[in-house]
Amino acid sequence: MYPSGTLRIHELTAEERATYATLKPDRLPEHVAIIMDGNGRWAGHRSLKRFLGHQQGAKSVQLVTETASRIGLPWLTLYAFSLENNLRRPRAEVNFLMRLLKSYLESNLQRMMDNNVRIRYIGRTHELPPEVQDKMAWAAEATALNTGTTLTLALNYGGRSEMVDAFRRLATEIKLKHLNPERITEEDIHRHLYTAHMPDPDLLIRTSGEMRLSNYLLWQIAYTEIFVTERLWPDFRGIHLLEAIADFQRRERRYGGLGEGSGEVDEEAERIKIAAS
Ligand code: FPP
Repeated sequence: MYPSGTLRIHELTAEERATYATLKPDRLPEHVAIIMDGNGRWAGHRSLKRFLGHQQGAKSVQLVTETASRIGLPWLTLYAFSLENNLRRPRAEVNFLMRLLKSYLESNLQRMMDNNVRIRYIGRTHELPPEVQDKMAWAAEATALNTGTTLTLALNYGGRSEMVDAFRRLATEIKLKHLNPERITEEDIHRHLYTAHMPDPDLLIRTSGEMRLSNYLLWQIAYTEIFVTERLWPDFRGIHLLEAIADFQRRERRYGGLGEGSGEVDEEAERIKIAAS
C-alpha cells in the first residue's frame, strides 16, 4: 500500500480510475522500469520522420509519469537513451534526442513540480554534451525536495557498463581498505551500482513487442516480472501502466521458492511411500 499522502486518485481519468479500482492496494509495485521502444515504427506507420516518433514518445513520458505520481508509485525508471543508441545511431538522431531531452526538462519542469515528481538519472551521464548535463542538473536540483514519484531517466546507460563501473569502484574500495575479496557479498555489489538507493524493479514493461532486455538493469531485474506489450511507446498512456500493474498482480512471485498452494511436503507420508516402494 502506498503512503496515502502521495495518492491523487481523483486526478485519474474515469477509465484509469476504473482500472485502478480493480487493483489490490496491498500488492502494488514499488518500482516499475520501462523499456520505451517503437518510436521509429510509430512514425514509420504514419510516413513521418523518426524524429516525430521520439517527440510523441516524450509526451508519453510526461503522461505516464503523471499517472504514476497520481497513484503514488514511488519509483519509475525509464530507458531513455542507451550507450548503444549513442554509439550506433546516426549523429543527427543522437543530436535530436539530446535537444529533445533538454527541451523536455525545460518545458515539463513546472508539471513535475505540480505532480510532486523528483527527477534523477542513471548512466554514464558525464559523457553527454555539457549543456545537456547542465539542464539535467538544473531539473534534478529544482525537483530534489519533491516527495512523490522519483522519475529516473537512464541516459547513456548500459547494464554491463554499470556493472563495470560498480566493480571498478568496489575494487578501489577493496584496495584502499585492504579487504579480503573472499568476503565480497551481493550487497557490496549492490551498493556500488547506480541504483544503490532504490529497490529493485518489481515490474519491467517493454513496449513494441520485442522480447529482449537490451542491456537494461541486468543486475537489478533478477526477480522482476516482465510485461511485454505490442503497443508502441508513443501510444502508451497511464491506463496502459495500470493495465500492466493489474497483470503483474495476477502473477505469483516465488523468488525461487515454492508458490502458494504447492502443498507442504508431508515428510512422514513420503517416508512411508519410499519404504513401501
Ligand atoms: C526507442 O524507439 C526509443 C528510444 C531510442 C529513445 C527513447 C526516447 C524517448 C521516449 C523520447 C525522449 C525521452 C525523453 C525523456 C525526453 P526506437 O527509435 O528504437 O523505435 P524503433 O525500434 O521503432 O525504431
